[in-house]
Amino acid sequence: MTLDNLAETFSRVFKRAPEIEVRAPGRVNLIGEHTDYNDGFVLPTDIDRAIWITAAGRTDTLVRAHSLDFGQTTTFDTKRIEKDDNAVWSNYIRGVIREFQKRGDQVKGMDLAVSGNVPKGSGLSSSAALEVATAETCRVISGIQIDPVSMALLCQAAERQFVGVQCGIMDQFVSTLGRENAALFLDCRDLSFELVPLEMQARIVICDSRKQRSLQTSEYNKRRAECEGAVRALSPVLGDAKALRDVTPQQLDENKQLMPELWYRRARHVVTENGRVLSAVGFLKSGDIPQFGRLMYESHASLRDDYEVSCAELDILVELASQQQGTIGARMTGAGFGGCTVNLVASEAVADFQATVAEKYQARTGLKPLVYVCSPSNGVMHRKL
Ligand code: GLA
Repeated sequence: MTLDNLAETFSRVFKRAPEIEVRAPGRVNLIGEHTDYNDGFVLPTDIDRAIWITAAGRTDTLVRAHSLDFGQTTTFDTKRIEKDDNAVWSNYIRGVIREFQKRGDQVKGMDLAVSGNVPKGSGLSSSAALEVATAETCRVISGIQIDPVSMALLCQAAERQFVGVQCGIMDQFVSTLGRENAALFLDCRDLSFELVPLEMQARIVICDSRKQRSLQTSEYNKRRAECEGAVRALSPVLGDAKALRDVTPQQLDENKQLMPELWYRRARHVVTENGRVLSAVGFLKSGDIPQFGRLMYESHASLRDDYEVSCAELDILVELASQQQGTIGARMTGAGFGGCTVNLVASEAVADFQATVAEKYQARTGLKPLVYVCSPSNGVMHRKL
């Protein structure tokens, strides 16, 4: 897909010229998994794969949206927005417009052409990218006043309320506020953040397992409920703890008898992962990349054994990566149950990593992985055409 194609498609489908072009990136999380909805810490970065929208305003209240990737056009009236099971991709667009309306904003009718190269369902947040691209399009076309943090929250609300995943804030936040060559260290409680430069002699390599994610929404929502259960169980002794963010590993261990073993393991992942993010940020700032890598491996083990959101294919990818010369760290990234791993690989070892991991993974699983180097990119941007 090129942007020329998208503008051309827009003109062909809608018989008019687009007015703006918007780009919102997918993300990869370096460390801090399943911590965001526990008021914890995360460290994602935007990737150089994105969702693009070209758009033009209309004088009526209709939205006509065309997806290049699905070859489908859908039309709805902003006065009566409903889910469309026949064009599921459009529900993200519908959800975002609904959230603007809830704030009292007037969203104008629009024609939209959408395309992207964030692989769908692979844990790189193509859905958050589509939400953020839609929100930016609405903001510009309808002249809506909204700050970037509120826009990220609005997109999260759209996903939670209209699409049904009880997700945290990480994906929409970094797709909105991320910056080139930096990781975004976010405190998911008060949404304060810091851009930490990614200056290292290593590259971020993503391995897409190509394993279809299954049960993702129900298992995700279940994990969230288990974490909330653990906080409730701790309330007699830790009355002030509002979320697992407020619990130390020691406090959790001392009170494990208050909860089922399963909740204890879920909580142990979260409280240790929060500690790992804080340490990892320190190592990144001081340039101690080997220690950063060690924490990535620990994070993976915790997600695999305590949180149980990995799968055989992701474990194999991490194992193969760890056997390669020049691999500094590797872990699953995103919600899990399939999807991708993120790897830190010494620059000179990247070519061999790509070839060897891909070959060995395919030999073991029969699946052909996608292994690519990613350049940390900017959050959402728009350009008038
Ligand atoms: C998904 C959610 C995020 C986050 C991750 C797991 O990507 O959208 O909010 O919870 O899973 O870290």
